[in-house]
Amino acid sequence: MAAADFVVVANRLPVDRVPGPDGEEVWRTSPGGLVAALEPVMQGVNGAWVGWAGQPDLELKPFTSGGLRLIPIPLSEQEIAEYYEGFSNDTIWPLYHDVIAPPQYHREWWDAYVSVNRRFADAAAAAVAQGGTVWVHDYQLQLVPQMVRALRPDVTIGYFHHIPFPTHGLYAQLPWRGQVLRGLLGADVIGFQRATDATNFLNAIRRRLKYDIKASTVTVPSGNGEIDDRGESHRALVKAFPISIDTVPYLELAARPDIQARAVEIRESLGNPKRILLGVDRLDYTKGIGHRVKAYGELLASRALSVEDVTLVQVASPSRERVDAYANLRDEIELAVSRINGDTDTMGHTAIRYLHQGFPREEMVALYLAADVMLVTALRDGMNLVAKEYVATRIDNRGVLVLSEFAGAADELGSAIQVNPHDIEGLKEAIMRAVEMPPREQGKRMRSMRRRVLEHDVNAWSDSFLSALSAARDAR
Ligand code: G6P
Repeated sequence: MAAADFVVVANRLPVDRVPGPDGEEVWRTSPGGLVAALEPVMQGVNGAWVGWAGQPDLELKPFTSGGLRLIPIPLSEQEIAEYYEGFSNDTIWPLYHDVIAPPQYHREWWDAYVSVNRRFADAAAAAVAQGGTVWVHDYQLQLVPQMVRALRPDVTIGYFHHIPFPTHGLYAQLPWRGQVLRGLLGADVIGFQRATDATNFLNAIRRRLKYDIKASTVTVPSGNGEIDDRGESHRALVKAFPISIDTVPYLELAARPDIQARAVEIRESLGNPKRILLGVDRLDYTKGIGHRVKAYGELLASRALSVEDVTLVQVASPSRERVDAYANLRDEIELAVSRINGDTDTMGHTAIRYLHQGFPREEMVALYLAADVMLVTALRDGMNLVAKEYVATRIDNRGVLVLSEFAGAADELGSAIQVNPHDIEGLKEAIMRAVEMPPREQGKRMRSMRRRVLEHDVNAWSDSFLSALSAARDAR
């Protein structure tokens, strides 16, 4: 197969292999913002995508789907347990999200992480053309940049980190803190969501590796650590590139009469409440779903809100269900939701319509159009693309976004009602302000947020990252 000029490396392929309705295997678009963000970037380049197909022990040959060359990486049951559920999602994920859940440190998980990262790096190095580009994504693959550089010094390497990078005080807990920094520093450009993430990363390098840093450029000496001692010294640019969404499908769907009719139907099927509140999250402890439900429950209990007038629709899509912290969270949320519903529901009205399901984009857009108030109350979030999807969808300039200051999107969406979700009284006040906000003020705030999201869409994001990468190539 011909070598690819542009290779994306991400834990997941853009499609998952899943059992279909009749028991046969079908391909379905993968969960998470990453896939949605990168798909438009891959159109029209001689590209390939290296990733896992979402199932154990699937040995598949490279194949083409929707015009994209896909290179599947097999993972065994044990690797899924140790590399994906273990080190990625029970060590790095909680540590990088400010230890909202306690990170687990296990040496066997680290060993699996190293060997799976090597498998991804080998596949990328084999697929990329001479002098081509490799773009590595996210926390599951932090060692890949250095591994690819060791194998293919001719290639330009980018890395984008979709989740937060913690302060050094927390990062320092990681028993493999030096190795991970060196792994990332194999890249020519290292992108983060927020300026604070980039600063935290540079601080960790200063404290741990003592490499020379000028402005946002690190000089990485030859022999950067244990994995690669052959490479020459190089410079790595460390910078914030806040990710965004492809706004086109949201604008198109929002304008479609059948989707607008579906939004009306959703409101009717909820008993025509005066206000619909909406939460849309993967069921993850970083999302602050419990804080949101608690604040809302207290507003109902104190009769500031009435179940006749308001409904909260909470879409919580299933995620990482075999990790204990996620299984426990599901129990907690479902207990809290059913208590509130049990205390307040009437035959015709429900306080919380809880949906532990994923939905196609058409239905999500109808929900965004139906929602008077969108609640994004993450305790920590790299960006939160749901906030941007809601804003893009509101072509009518109506609706109110309540947005946690701990989500990356808060840096850009200053006209949202920003909240500290830990402050339950503050959250209750924000919900009341949102519910009562006059249409004129909604319009003013929504217009200013829409300007930002429509201008700074996913294409603007990838353009700015990729031009930094080609500048790095030219400066070599
Ligand atoms: C976040 C991460 C992605 C990940 C997605 C879904 O958005 O940044 O890397 O793919 O969650 O999580 P999952 O574990 O199902 O891939």
